[in-house]
Amino acid sequence: MKPSGKSAITSKRLGILIGGSGLIGGALTHFYKSTSRNTEILAPSSKKLSLREPDDIKQYFRRYRPSFIINTAIAPIDSNPQMAFETNYLGSVNLAKVALVLGIPFIHISTASTLPPGENLTEDDHLPLTSGLANYPKSKLMAELTLKHLGATQGLDYTIIRLALVYGEHDHKIQGFNRLLFSIANQSLPLMLTKKGVMHSYSNNLKLSHFIHHIIDRREEFSGKTYHFVDPEPVELTQLIFSIKSQLGVKTPRKIFVPYGLAQTGKACIRWIVKIMTRIGIEARVPVELMFLENFYKSQTLSSKNLKDSSYKDPAPGVTVFTELPAMIEYYLTRWKHLNLLSIPGDEQKSHQNSALEFQHSPTTLLDHLHNNNFTISKDDKNRNRRSSSIIDI
Ligand SMILES: NC(=O)c1ccc[n+]([C@@H]2O[C@H](COP(=O)([O-])OP(=O)(O)OC[C@H]3O[C@@H](n4cnc5c(N)ncnc54)[C@H](OP(=O)(O)O)[C@@H]3O)[C@@H](O)[C@H]2O)c1
Repeated sequence: MKPSGKSAITSKRLGILIGGSGLIGGALTHFYKSTSRNTEILAPSSKKLSLREPDDIKQYFRRYRPSFIINTAIAPIDSNPQMAFETNYLGSVNLAKVALVLGIPFIHISTASTLPPGENLTEDDHLPLTSGLANYPKSKLMAELTLKHLGATQGLDYTIIRLALVYGEHDHKIQGFNRLLFSIANQSLPLMLTKKGVMHSYSNNLKLSHFIHHIIDRREEFSGKTYHFVDPEPVELTQLIFSIKSQLGVKTPRKIFVPYGLAQTGKACIRWIVKIMTRIGIEARVPVELMFLENFYKSQTLSSKNLKDSSYKDPAPGVTVFTELPAMIEYYLTRWKHLNLLSIPGDEQKSHQNSALEFQHSPTTLLDHLHNNNFTISKDDKNRNRRSSSIIDI
């Protein structure tokens, strides 16, 4: 029987991406949309296809029979056990089972959170699966182990891609690397919550799309394997913080390093306050970054040897988190200011004539200006109108 949805999709190869509105999925959707590759990507939102609803999965895949599945979905990092288990574990396994039935590749995105601290960690390394693990790494690790099991016992054609700290555009939630960028821009990080010499691996969001596209066409080489998709050189956290700080021109965090013991005590106090507040009926949460406090003080670098030895070639070897910083700062600061999440001291002064501020504080002046200029862009006023760029000259 011909699947009902496919005839409307064109003759291109069809892939289904779960998690298309997220940081990784957003970049992938953009990658396939903006290039004329012979592939069409469908990226249903979690409202249309929730990984927590097996029926959603069945119905969607009965309608669309893709040539491959990419899973970039995750429940929020601080989800309760049930949500983490159902989305990150059961959801992934159910997708893998669909891939098995359809006989198609399943590309699964995983995380360095399944790894212990350490240097040059390989794809064979992982944390021991214990009850004490937090919900996020536990559910991601269990998904990795089950995919390998399904590969070994039932011939699932899978590739697991472990990412470290991801940098790039399309993050709508301010998490991971962007949480650090946000805290420095917002000046809410007064001191250095790390120590000198702590190194981490980083993953480039855009390059990941190239890698995924590459491995989908080369299943003999990449099937049944796990890859660390990270930049070859790890980065010192202190150096990255100082770079962001100097590019933003802010004074904090100051060069005072908070010892780990003290930081842990602070975290315990915050946990205690949150507990008390919750008990008296006030909604409060421990900031997500505190879940990863240990990572600020311990190195975790991933070996990229398997990636380097594969047929994939880095399309832009010179591009690193440092070279991308100026563009990311511009992209995210603009976004966060528009969302009213951020105001940098002195910025109001600089952009006094900015029409967004005029809209906020003196709408009559702005309206007068727009009326007097007949909604057209004169040469002299080009800059001003660029700022109020929602009205175009027809
Ligand atoms: N960001 C990083 O720094 C980082 C680092 C290492 C590994 N990773 C891995 O990369 C992958 C993607 O992470 P991300 O940062 O892109 O996540 P994200 O920005 O938080 O996006 C999560 C995505 O999952 C979807 N989702 C959530 N619950 C769902 C459900 N029940 N059913 C279907 N979709 C659901 C969301 O869709 P809606 O918006 O529609 O709810 C959203 O599109 C994950 O596997 C993560 O472990 C990320």
